[in-house]
Amino acid sequence: RAYPRDKLTNVTPSILSKTTRQLYLQQYHPISILRNCIESYFDKFHHFNSFSPIVTTVQNFDELGFPANHPGRSTTDSYYINNSIMLRTHTSAHQRQAFKTGAEKFLISADVYRRDEIDTCHYPVFHQMEGAQIFSINKAIEEIACDMQISTSQQYRHINTDDNTVISTTNPIQPCHPIEVANATISHLKYSLNELVKMLFIDEKNLQVRWVDAYFPFTSPSWEMEIFYQGKWLEVCGCGVIEQDILNNAGQPDKIGWAFGLGLERIAMVLFNIPDIRLFWSKDPRFINQFTSNEIIKFKPFSKYPSCIKDLSFWMNNDKEHEFHITNFCEIVRDIAEDLVEDVKLIDDFMHPKTKKRSLCFRINYRSMDRTCTNEEINGIQDKLRKSVAEKLDVTLR
Ligand code: DAH
Repeated sequence: RAYPRDKLTNVTPSILSKTTRQLYLQQYHPISILRNCIESYFDKFHHFNSFSPIVTTVQNFDELGFPANHPGRSTTDSYYINNSIMLRTHTSAHQRQAFKTGAEKFLISADVYRRDEIDTCHYPVFHQMEGAQIFSINKAIEEIACDMQISTSQQYRHINTDDNTVISTTNPIQPCHPIEVANATISHLKYSLNELVKMLFIDEKNLQVRWVDAYFPFTSPSWEMEIFYQGKWLEVCGCGVIEQDILNNAGQPDKIGWAFGLGLERIAMVLFNIPDIRLFWSKDPRFINQFTSNEIIKFKPFSKYPSCIKDLSFWMNNDKEHEFHITNFCEIVRDIAEDLVEDVKLIDDFMHPKTKKRSLCFRINYRSMDRTCTNEEINGIQDKLRKSVAEKLDVTLR
């Protein structure tokens, strides 16, 4: 389909080329294996797996109660086709559509798009799974009690889940919800997600999980769930009790429910031992052919190719300084060097004391995942990059 361009258009050919890959549906791709695994855990849930990545800004933001000045709306964070059409930044963009079908528990899996910096854990396209379950407000307490009795978690004693969160005025139960019904919904949400991570991480010794308070415009109360992995707390999912307006507007006014959104790459990198997020996009048989069934297995890294470091520095033209954003720089790098760049770091940022001009220096770490690059090749790319940066960012190269 053709869409008119306008001032907000910032999608690039390289980003658009990703919209047809559908890694989450590709048989035996780690992202798809993980999706399958989560789908089998939520066994009675309806699956929505074919929503288009092209959505309206109303779907992505307004229907979910994002305020007009929310930073997620800015063109430095999101990909716009034009001022009313964009690439979805999260699977929550389809919540209303999904509730409107009448489904009372569902999962939505999809590719989502965000402008971001470049390193081994960030890629402008990644995958999310949205889950939601709603109950009749009148019957919620009984239905939930019954559901939570069915399964027991005796086999998962090695996992330690920490929850020190308390309901407070900064993360409140919605005034329209009876307290006991809201509390039952919250227990069911936390129970469902605790059991999910216990199932997924059954082989990880002494896994630590914690719940922290969070804020999302479309849930209240809201939390994030984090797991402790290799010395760091990793956020795996956001969740909460669905804002009642969303259900009312989707034709479900007598229901109460919870929703969550989880990032599949984060979890897959841990479970499959995948060290670099670019690998998910690789067509190299040495990657793809390691996965031949729906099982979660550890990836055996093939040799790491040499890296080639290049710095690029420039003076900014005074009046443009406030417009500069690192994601704009990274976008140009992605467009020219595609997946040859492992990471980009801002290594110097200073103001000339006399001219008051600002100078920035970026360090670009080139490393292919599947071959050794020649010096000439990298020099050629770096030259092209310099030209493009000078032209698109209106800066003076140093
Ligand atoms: N859409 C959120 C994000 O991408 C994640 C999320 C948070 C989804 C809370 C939910 C939710 O459904 O209830 O950051």
